[in-house]
Amino acid sequence: MAEIKTIGVLTSGGDAPGMNAAIRAVVRTGIAKGFRMVGIERGYNGLINEEIREMDLRSVSEIIHRGGTVLYTARCKAFTTEAGQKKAADTCRKFGIDAVVVIGGDGSFRGAMALAKQGIPCIGLPGTIDNDIACSEYTIGYDTAMNTAVEMIDKLRDTTQSHDRCSVIELMGRGAGYITMNVGIATGALACLVPEIPYDLQKDVIDRMVKTQKTGKKHFIIVVAEGIGHAQELAKYIEENTGIESRATILGHVQRGGCPTVRDRTTASQMGFRAIELLEMGAYNRVVGIKDDEITDYSITEALAMKKSMDPKLGLISKTISL
Ligand code: ADP
Ligand code: F6P
Repeated sequence: MAEIKTIGVLTSGGDAPGMNAAIRAVVRTGIAKGFRMVGIERGYNGLINEEIREMDLRSVSEIIHRGGTVLYTARCKAFTTEAGQKKAADTCRKFGIDAVVVIGGDGSFRGAMALAKQGIPCIGLPGTIDNDIACSEYTIGYDTAMNTAVEMIDKLRDTTQSHDRCSVIELMGRGAGYITMNVGIATGALACLVPEIPYDLQKDVIDRMVKTQKTGKKHFIIVVAEGIGHAQELAKYIEENTGIESRATILGHVQRGGCPTVRDRTTASQMGFRAIELLEMGAYNRVVGIKDDEITDYSITEALAMKKSMDPKLGLISKTISL
């Protein structure tokens, strides 16, 4: 493998608060270690369409506190084909890009593996609000998204309480329920419906609402992960089966925006630094993660084969303290 002189960085998949802090860390650590740094715009699209720009120290000024991603992001269909991957690798060679740091989720890491197969070494950094990357206990953006959701649900609580209603709130997470479970606990939701924990609508929602109503509870928060969905239907079902007026709110993309929290900024900074350290030491095609609060890394293949599970105790805690 030829010596690495130039490193590209891209953000891919859904944006997440803290991606900018990660870009900044990658660029500045790279420059500090003597690499030429370039930004690739709009995820893998930038490699297909040759949207490449030089990144100097000042190119990442004033972004550590900003949500979104200054490199833009995208889901790139063309890159999922071998022809697209070949074109992407050719672009790297044309612009002198010897290695690429990919900030994104599992799909983006599959893309990184494909690019690595075309001869371009890659490093993956977990950036997604969903926290659904198995090789890392934490993903950049997760904390900010949860805090945003909690802030929104606290507001919903005011109106829910004023009307003695039930609010059914659908939260993001693709197939994962991490945001929903933890936000549910943090907002005192009576029920947290997530794909990872089996539930029974009658027993876990209706019966519990009726039972707690008898103890004087007059308003209710129910959170449901997007992987389960059907918030409107659930609100209707609850109203029909309890007589409690119910409303559904789908929080949606607001969860992806906003100023990143301290946790997201510091995690992004640590992970970005590690990405460059790995390339510097010749440890290619790896995904950075966090285990027991320590920054660690795995081969991309190993990272993609790992499975993540939700601690079932969270379900028990939520049920026990939300009566
Ligand atoms: P995330 O990275 O957040 O999981 P996606 O699953 O949408 O988001 O993946 C982001 C992008 O990564 C896709 O649009 C595509 O360009 C690339 N990608 C995903 N899966 C593959 C794959 N199997 N092979 C090559 N590229 C992929
Ligand atoms: O992966 C982040 C995420 O926000 C998921 O929670 C959600 O399922 C998905 O992206 C939405 O994607 P899009 O940006 O295509 O609406």
